[in-house]
Amino acid sequence: MRDAEPSAIYLKDYQVPSHLIDKTHLHFILHPTKTRVSSDLTIRKNPDADTKSNELILHGQDIDLQSVSIDGRQLDDRDYQLEAECLRIANVPEQFVLSVVGLIAPADNTSLEGLYKSQSMYCTQCEAEGFRKITYFLDRPDVLSEFTTTVVADKTEFPVLLSNGNPIKSGSLDDNMHFVTWHDPFPKPAYLFALVGGDLECIQDSFTTTSGRAIDLKIYVEEKDLDKCDHAMASLKSSMRWDEDVYGREYDLDIFMIVAVDDFNMGAMENKGLNIFNTSCVLAKAETTTDAGFQRVEAVVAHEYFHNWSGNRVTCRDWFQLSLKEGFTVFRDAEFSADMGSRTVKRVEDAKLLRAMQFAEDAGPLAHPVQPASFIEISNFYTLTVYEKGAEVVRMIHTLLGAEAFRQGSDLYFERNDGKAATIEDFVSSMEEAGGRDLSKFMSWYHQAGTPKLAVTADYNSSSREYALTFNQTCPTTPECDSEDKKPYLIPVAMGLLGSNGPLSLVPETDVDFSLSKNDTHCVLELTQPQHRVVFKDINAPPVPSLMRGFSAPVRLQFDYSPDDLITLMTQDDDGFTRWDACQQLCVSVIHEVEASLQQGKEPSVDSRLSDAARALITNQNLDPAMVALMLTLPSEGYLAEIATTANIDTIHSAREIVRNHLAASLKTEFAERFDSLPYFPEYEANAVQIAVRSLKNCCLGYLVATADAVWLERAMTQYRTATNMTDQSAALSVLALSPDSKAVDYSVSALSEFYQQWQSEALVVNQWFSVQAMQPGEEAVDRIRSLMQHEAFNINNPNKVRALIGAFANNNPVCFHNSDGSGYRLLAEVVKKLNATNPQIAARMLGPLTKWRKYDSKRQELMQAELNSIKQTVGLSKDVFEVISKSLA
Ligand code: PHE
Ligand code: ZN
Repeated sequence: MRDAEPSAIYLKDYQVPSHLIDKTHLHFILHPTKTRVSSDLTIRKNPDADTKSNELILHGQDIDLQSVSIDGRQLDDRDYQLEAECLRIANVPEQFVLSVVGLIAPADNTSLEGLYKSQSMYCTQCEAEGFRKITYFLDRPDVLSEFTTTVVADKTEFPVLLSNGNPIKSGSLDDNMHFVTWHDPFPKPAYLFALVGGDLECIQDSFTTTSGRAIDLKIYVEEKDLDKCDHAMASLKSSMRWDEDVYGREYDLDIFMIVAVDDFNMGAMENKGLNIFNTSCVLAKAETTTDAGFQRVEAVVAHEYFHNWSGNRVTCRDWFQLSLKEGFTVFRDAEFSADMGSRTVKRVEDAKLLRAMQFAEDAGPLAHPVQPASFIEISNFYTLTVYEKGAEVVRMIHTLLGAEAFRQGSDLYFERNDGKAATIEDFVSSMEEAGGRDLSKFMSWYHQAGTPKLAVTADYNSSSREYALTFNQTCPTTPECDSEDKKPYLIPVAMGLLGSNGPLSLVPETDVDFSLSKNDTHCVLELTQPQHRVVFKDINAPPVPSLMRGFSAPVRLQFDYSPDDLITLMTQDDDGFTRWDACQQLCVSVIHEVEASLQQGKEPSVDSRLSDAARALITNQNLDPAMVALMLTLPSEGYLAEIATTANIDTIHSAREIVRNHLAASLKTEFAERFDSLPYFPEYEANAVQIAVRSLKNCCLGYLVATADAVWLERAMTQYRTATNMTDQSAALSVLALSPDSKAVDYSVSALSEFYQQWQSEALVVNQWFSVQAMQPGEEAVDRIRSLMQHEAFNINNPNKVRALIGAFANNNPVCFHNSDGSGYRLLAEVVKKLNATNPQIAARMLGPLTKWRKYDSKRQELMQAELNSIKQTVGLSKDVFEVISKSLA
């Protein structure tokens, strides 16, 4: 056990840095266990700091300190104090050059933070606080410095030596060594520093900016992966063009590099000019990568590229402002993806993720505001709330201001804060100024945790021909704030009313601000009070309200729709999101009915209105096939658990299967016809049209295999064997491997073994192989996972492998994970304990499913708590795991 419990730090305690570091010169001699890092820092007292003290306190961790000097004069150990996480130098001059030499051991660094080795390559990850594992520094985002970096290494083993900015010098040294010096002219915080040394190949291209500057684009990978870089390169070029067109942002350096690494904690990192990517977010090729994989590469490349402005040119003052760069950048990449593919599909996918995952986070023990007020370990705050809810919050500002004023606000924000470390308030005040409106009521979205609930009731008065909607907003209690103490939210409600002949003209009478569309059938209401009543005039019959079009605010909407209302919305509303949502709600209500029957021991029956609606969808050739696939995909067990008060995993699973099998059986002919009539594209492209067709085709295949008809099992196997792209191959593999039917077993076993045979040399494809097996049903699931952990291809030090196997099991195999014998929980706890010692960030992340223990029945609650408590007793518990455990048990 730790001697002292780690303590929290608070936003309210923010103080400007005592010193500034104008220039940073770094010199690295790469070595697996004794990399020598020498730094020369040009430091001066911060004129804005009010402290009188002349003490300089630098962050530093796991560094073997060799020497410290000031202006060339070596200090002895009476001049400084060395602590576990910092170096204190008592009496420093107003201005000086501090030179420090330290040794670090990248080969022993399994935390993947700081300088580490991934396979044979050296690379760095500094966000959020990893730079302090490289050298002593003011490792905080509001200290911006101009970096010059020299890297020295063996010429044969490490021909490629990279850092931020532009290469300014290189040459050979004795003993087969060589060096490259890089200079980054843009002052940046240490978290954006990067270094790479390896035996890498690259593909190159060039992009000419609006102002006519030619930028070199390079993607560095291992030689075997050179054939998987084209999609990332094309995505990079589209992103660069898009940011010029939509935000007026041009790239600033002469070179933009991406390096792919196998071992990476997150998706990718926006280091200035030298972006380091998880291979899973850069490599793509038809044979090895699914459509979703291609889309992820495009989105992540765009995301990191967009950070060059929203993150790098304008950075964060402190880590409480993380969503300033992440929320805004996710909003930017979402809009980019919407422009590249299908806007509605992208919106539905994002809303789905938010509702299934972020709402759960917001309802659990780790709920926190988009701008947190405190944290113990910042790595725990790279969350769905900061990223995805943060993006929704920016989207609402976009909705409230309109595209034009939003763009002016963004211009103002970049202009005012360029080269600075800013706050969320700086962002919002630029938007307020450009929009000519006060957004103070909007700030609850940043400051309060929890998902607001918006309950809506309607009444229609036939004599006055008035239709009134009453909106009631509340926000549940979250760890640090009681429901009653919460301020109301400014909620934009995009809506319309559907009459029997389609959309009605809206004549609202209300104290709510609203804007009407040109044709009067759509409006955006701006709710600001706990309750509002909005009256619509001249309505001839009770309409069906279409609410929260485009998912206009991240709230839980509650309205008592009848199944027939939902069918009206599904088939007639103009808004794609609302149509999808209505279909989901219909599915939810049908599944809930089945659940109720199961619980009461009654024979369940499936409302035929659902299969009728599904039939209409599957046979309609005019709809976007991708939307049909999304609408025909039943809500996930995760989402069904999220909306339940107490999640009965087994009943949820059975009810969902009953509805799924019912749809499969009653629409077999329609699914088969649609499956056969959709085209096959011999030339794979990851464009919206092809992706849409493949998604619907594979959705049909899923239902057809669910009928357990021998013909369709055989056809799925044929698709598995003949597919020329990974989308179709892995879809066939999944439907066979995840089928609960015993007739599928032989197919499943053959497909899984053939898959490994075929793809064992492709790490990312092997990850898919692990994931499918992690999600397979059956009593023996936990044993299977345990033996897969012993498989030659598994490696607990590789986060992608851990996510693929353990993550997929704990998150996507609820029935087995929540086995009432506790074996699933035990397995996860063992893995977390192991990872705690090697990679605390991943350990804390993997813990997620156990922290949601309050959602389950009392027996499972006890089992889950017992595992959490046993992890808590671990000797040498990391800050990361400590924070998650103690908050979830509080
Ligand atoms: N800043 C990265 C991004 O969102 C994410 C990241 C955070 C990567 C921390 C590594 C470590 O693009
Ligand atoms: Zn980001």
